[in-house]
Amino acid sequence: MPKYKTALVTGGAGFIGSHLVDALVRRRIKVYVVDDLSSGSLSNLNPNAHFTKLSITNPQFTTYLRRLKPDVIFHCAAQINVRHSIVDPPNDAQTNIMGTIALAHTAAQIGVKKIIFSSTGGAMYPDQARMPVSERTPPQPSSPYGISKRAAEMYLYHEYIVHGMPYVALRYANVYGPRQNAKGEAGVITIFASHMLEGKPVKIFGTGKQTRDYVYVEDIVKANMLAMSRHVVGEFNIGTGKETNVNALFSKLTHLTGYQMPARYEPFVSGEMMRSALDARLAKKTLGWAPLVSLDEGLKKTVAWFSKKA
Ligand SMILES: NC(=O)c1ccc[n+]([C@@H]2O[C@H](COP(=O)([O-])OP(=O)(O)OC[C@H]3O[C@@H](n4cnc5c(N)ncnc54)[C@H](O)[C@@H]3O)[C@@H](O)[C@H]2O)c1
Repeated sequence: MPKYKTALVTGGAGFIGSHLVDALVRRRIKVYVVDDLSSGSLSNLNPNAHFTKLSITNPQFTTYLRRLKPDVIFHCAAQINVRHSIVDPPNDAQTNIMGTIALAHTAAQIGVKKIIFSSTGGAMYPDQARMPVSERTPPQPSSPYGISKRAAEMYLYHEYIVHGMPYVALRYANVYGPRQNAKGEAGVITIFASHMLEGKPVKIFGTGKQTRDYVYVEDIVKANMLAMSRHVVGEFNIGTGKETNVNALFSKLTHLTGYQMPARYEPFVSGEMMRSALDARLAKKTLGWAPLVSLDEGLKKTVAWFSKKA
């Protein structure tokens, strides 16, 4: 395994990034975090991480990177909201494409050994693809968010082919767990759990029969650690391959939280996918990754964390 002494986590004050920081600190790697705190919070941050409040779109970011010269970069900072990306595509592209180009191009120049990029599986493939969808299905993102994530992957590929900058792009399914921000639109589990614990109404859009592939954040951390240590390059789906519909989630969470109210059904949001699940057999074969936390176990841990917080 290559020896990494220093790591930079962009977006390290966010949900997934902060769990990665914890895992790297446990491995005694010196961790630096760059985050503009647009959706992340310092309360998520491990006290052993060295924090700098900075946007990856700020020209000072590349100066910072040149000075730091980290061994490995976990690139999580992003505009993560699909609906915002539809309302304001240039803003999404600014962070997700331009920010990633600046990061990858500078990383190649300063000899970073690897970039591990948080990409998307859920927003990457055509809506009509057969589920669970594998990496063999050509990407056909329909939202500006999916397009910007695919563009970022392509720039990473370019830096690898032309400048020898190794990367792994992990295409996550729907990630859930402690520290996910319930204020945003992402993360139905987090929104349901926190609303239920606060006794607020819970909305389901459409029939509730739409499915997603839910993967627990600890399994995401494991995929990142394997991507760091294995000599592999490319794009990998990270999901369970299992579909769960919103009604089933609602029912599981009512049992865990003791919520008594019925769900409030609202009109279907147009443009929303009916089904989504990822085939992660390539990650199993190449990275040795498989999800270990079942949905029931992950939901229990998530509800326990939100109850403690409340
Ligand atoms: N949560 C999911 O289900 C999911 C699924 C697929 C992909 N992803 C990807 O995983 C990554 C992490 O997502 P998350 O769910 O932890 O969201 P998050 O919002 O908790 O984390 C993103 C972090 O990036 C920071 N950030 C945003 N723009 C920035 C900028 N310009 N400069 C510096 N920092 C900036 C935010 O403040 C936040 O701390 C993102 O790249 C996201 O696209 C997440």
